[in-house]
Parts: sequence; structure tokens; C-alpha cells
Amino acid sequence: MPNILFAARPERWTLYEPQLREALAEAGLAHAVLTTEADPSEVDYIVYAPNGPVTDFTPYTRLKAVLNLWAGVEDVVGNDTLKAPLARMVDYGLTEGMVEWVTGHTLRHHLGMDAHIHGQDGVWRAGVVPPLARDRTVAILGLGALGSACATALAGLGFRVTGWSRTEKRIEGVRTEHGPDGLQEILKSAEIVTLLLPDTPATENTLNVDTLALMPRGAVILNPGRGALIDDDALLAALDSGRIGHATLDTFRIEPLPADHPFWAHPKVTVTPHIASETRVDSAARVIVDNIRRGEAGEPFLHLVDRTLGY
Ligand SMILES: NC(=O)c1ccc[n+]([C@@H]2O[C@H](COP(=O)([O-])OP(=O)(O)OC[C@H]3O[C@@H](n4cnc5c(N)ncnc54)[C@H](OP(=O)(O)O)[C@@H]3O)[C@@H](O)[C@H]2O)c1
Repeated sequence: MPNILFAARPERWTLYEPQLREALAEAGLAHAVLTTEADPSEVDYIVYAPNGPVTDFTPYTRLKAVLNLWAGVEDVVGNDTLKAPLARMVDYGLTEGMVEWVTGHTLRHHLGMDAHIHGQDGVWRAGVVPPLARDRTVAILGLGALGSACATALAGLGFRVTGWSRTEKRIEGVRTEHGPDGLQEILKSAEIVTLLLPDTPATENTLNVDTLALMPRGAVILNPGRGALIDDDALLAALDSGRIGHATLDTFRIEPLPADHPFWAHPKVTVTPHIASETRVDSAARVIVDNIRRGEAGEPFLHLVDRTLGY
């Protein structure tokens, strides 16, 4: 029976332990050893969070896989002590949460809700009706587990959806582009752009002085991806010049976002505290256990990270 080490923050253990035990029982692995402390040389799987206690994998000599509880792997992917396969989190709870956050914030800007939420001044301003979704182009940068689900949901609401990825993708109802030229094409027409790229050396500052300048005047940016995807100074300058109309940011280069950061006070920035979506314990426990079951059955692991690409 496999030895499974739970290596996330201690308070997560209380939440995950019952769900993992239940999922292990369902998978026929009720006798697996699930623990927060083990002799490293006897551990088969690590259920992992990058902010947990394990940073050096060297003593874990018989490790079969590291199963990340987070979708983002930028804090572990470059760890040279890790030789075993690394799987990231893909879970329906995480995906549905992201679809809801992106849809909600897209509709806020599409419908111009702020004008009414903040403009309750007794003046009846009739006549300004938002366009239909069919007349609004929205773009998703990153068409992976999360981006493709968001693109499909927005297309379902009638938006003209465009999307960008590293390799060629086909998604029904979505105009897709890939590679550097594809990004330019997408940004030229995008009125609301959502970033759902991973944080890798190739994606850092995807939105910078040059790419922001391609976007239509007044375009809106949503960033639930990672802070490093945007050059902060270039974004602030683009907001001040009116090139960008608003930025709703959920992720930042430094988190928590420092209290004196200009984003907090900027009238055209909405800060949300990295809550766009979170791994849901019940569904995530099943994803983790399914990979352990696969490992024990000699089947290939799901959601493996390409260590060279960084995601
Ligand atoms: N704020 C939150 O609460 C929260 C929650 C969960 C996740 N996230 C963030 O969301 C990110 C995306 O998650 P996911 O599960 O959708 O990841 P994923 O399935 O790995 O998808 C990543 C997408 O980005 C594309 N991509 C990667 N490098 C690129 C490049 N250099 N140029 C163009 N496209 C590139 C990939 O292209 P290919 O399809 O061609 O490979 C893929 O479409 C995570 O990495 C994490 O940072 C945030």
C-alpha cells in the first residue's frame, strides 16, 4: 500500500484528511498510509502545496509523484531537487469558480454596471443602453483548463470570443490564434481581455508597453492569471492615458498586495485578493486520489507539468 505524505499548510490537513480518506476508500486504497509526518525514504506520493513544509525533495528517494494542490506551479517547477513527475491541479471546482469570476467581471464591464452602482444621484440618465454581447469582442489569453472553459462560457452568452495559446487550439464558437503574431491579432480587437496564462519565463510581461498600445482605446483587462503577466508600470501609464479603461486584478507580483501599492488607490483599478478561484477540497481530493490510483495501477498520471516549458 502506498505511503502518502500530506505536505501543505497544517490548517489544510483538517480540511483535506477526511476527504482524502473518503476518496482513497472509494478508489479501493483504504489501506494507504496518509500522514503529515513520514520517513522521507518511505514516501511514495506527496500531496503538495508550494507554501507547505517540503522544499528539498532530495531525501524522498522512492517518490512516484508530487501532486500539487494548486493549478499554478511556478514556485515548484524550477526546484532541481525534484526528480519525480509533478502533476498540477485540474479540478471542476477550480474551473467552475474561475468561469464564474471571469463571467461576472466581464459582465460588469460589458454592461457598464459601475455607472449605476456609483451614480445614485437622483438624475435619470435614460438612453445609454449597453451593446449586446454579440457586438462585443472579448479575448482570453491562455486556453488551458481554465481559459478554454471561460471562453466557452462567454461564447455561450453570445460574446464574440477570441483566444490565444502557445500551440494551435480549436474551441467551438471561439476564434483562436497562437504564437507571437496571433497575440497581436487578438489584442487589436479585444475590448475585454482576460489573462489565464501560467507564470513562465515566456509569459512574463505579456502585456507591456508595446502590446498594451495595440488594444482598442478604453479596453478592459481582467487578470486572474498571475501578476507577472503584466508590466505594472506600463499598465499604470496606459490607465492614466486612457488607453486602458479599467483593470480588474486578482493576482500580483507581490501578494498580499502592499498597502501602499498604487493599484489600491487607482480609480480605474479593482483589486480582488487572489480569490478568483480556489481548489475545492472535495473535488480536488478526488483528483489527487485518482492520480495515486493511476500510479499504483501503472497507468499514466494526469495533468503532468512539462518542466521545460514551466507549466
Ligand atoms: N487567481 C486564481 O485564483 C487562480 C486560480 C487557478 C489558476 N490560476 C492561474 O491560471 C493559470 C492557468 O491555469 P490552467 O489550469 O488553465 O493552465 P493550463 O491548463 O496549463 O493552460 C495554460 C494555457 O496557457 C497557454 N500558454 C502557456 N505558455 C504560453 C505562451 N508562451 N504563449 C501563449 N500561450 C501560452 C497554454 O498554451 P497551450 O494550450 O498551447 O499549451 C495553455 O493554453 C495558472 O497557471 C494559474 O497561474 C489563478
